[in-house]
Amino acid sequence: MPDLFRAVLDRIQGAYALCVIDQSTPDRLYVARQGSPLVIGLGLGENFVGSDQLALTHVTDRFMYLDEGDWGVITREQVRLWDVSGRVVERAVVQSHLGTEAVSKGSYRHFMAKEIHEQPRAVLDSLRLKLGSAHILSGILGPGSDEILDQVGAVQIVACGTSYHAGLVARYWIESLAGIPCQVEIASEYRYRDVVTLPNTLWIAISQSGETADVLAALRHLDQAHVLATLAVCNVATSSLIRETDLALLTDAGPEIGVASTKAFTTQLTVLLVLAGLLAKSRKVDSFDEKALVAELRQLPDLLTAALAIEPAVATIAELFADKQHTLFLGRGAMNPIAMEGALKLKELSYIHAEAYPAGELKHGPLALVDESMPVVAVAPNDALIEKLQSNLSEVRARGGQLIVFADHAVAQDGHSLTCVLPAVPARIAPIVFTVPLQLLSYHVAVLRGTDVDQPRNLAKSVTVE
Ligand code: G6P
Repeated sequence: MPDLFRAVLDRIQGAYALCVIDQSTPDRLYVARQGSPLVIGLGLGENFVGSDQLALTHVTDRFMYLDEGDWGVITREQVRLWDVSGRVVERAVVQSHLGTEAVSKGSYRHFMAKEIHEQPRAVLDSLRLKLGSAHILSGILGPGSDEILDQVGAVQIVACGTSYHAGLVARYWIESLAGIPCQVEIASEYRYRDVVTLPNTLWIAISQSGETADVLAALRHLDQAHVLATLAVCNVATSSLIRETDLALLTDAGPEIGVASTKAFTTQLTVLLVLAGLLAKSRKVDSFDEKALVAELRQLPDLLTAALAIEPAVATIAELFADKQHTLFLGRGAMNPIAMEGALKLKELSYIHAEAYPAGELKHGPLALVDESMPVVAVAPNDALIEKLQSNLSEVRARGGQLIVFADHAVAQDGHSLTCVLPAVPARIAPIVFTVPLQLLSYHVAVLRGTDVDQPRNLAKSVTVE
């Protein structure tokens, strides 16, 4: 059978993670991986196979990860592996320190609620070992990374879903703090495009799981000649993405079980802001105040806790959405991707059609949709664009639209507006803090509508196929 299995592997193409049983030898598992994740869980007198360590955490804490093209035979007592060229190989055994409580709901009704409330801790953990008292630590992307950062001339970010929105926010930070041109693209588009890569590009993949097939394919598609180094911003240290990139910037959100990403997003944003600071530092940007950035980052856990405290007000606002079919989310500048993320959360969880627009673009089309039956959500921190946003919101009011404004300061009110007030937030970190009420909004709308909060229909946590 091993020969037959090997012969089949030689003939099949594309991405797969296989686990096969021959009826005549039911105590043996034949496994192989190519392009899709596969992990072996090691027990005493028993072994397990899964696509993700999290699925096996309740049965073992020791894992073995197959490399691309690896295949093997597993019995209760033994794991034998071969690499793609047929050589016998041994892969390292990784000891996991995740307790089973990390993958349980605790006292929460849903994983998503638990994960939303874990954000102050997740952000604090993600900043650990990255910051000194008033500076960003050196070498946090890996050995030799500071020398690489000194040479960066451009940044290309590639990601999918919520991680793509994190990339869009990062562009604002990287360009404004470091003055380095930054492009952001959806991985499923990037991988099939003739991409023009600027010289000395730092190529960044953002992925919570590190297993998203389109992101891995984009990584394999890049233009080696112009890419200085590849960097993974990822929540899973043992993922394929981390293994295949030169540098790593890990988030420490802990396992995220809810399909709709929450704490992974805010921790991605946090470490991406640290990265923007590192790039500004390497470039010796005169106007860059490292101490002020570090002080803002350190405020994040408390600000996130304060943002979570407005949950009762958000739960009341959610009642407005329970019977709606369409909504619009508005933001400007770095808050526009936050509006996009808010709209994505609402559609994923409650199946309400939600669209996001940069508020300045409203008059070029979506204003035609606005009437009394359409709630319009605006994220309005007290930043440089607040006056522009206020005048965009007046256009919505004038059409009788029901406005829901999340703000950290007093905003103009009337019978058509509902304002939900957050703690005052430094403008630079507002995208991170303002994400919280939008997550809470979609969560409560979904609960009211009775949808499956943790596993929305038709969606998967980790999209390991194209
Ligand atoms: C799926 C998930 C999303 C996630 C996206 C990218 O669509 O449902 O929550 O944002 O994949 O996943 P990644 O692991 O690459 O961040």
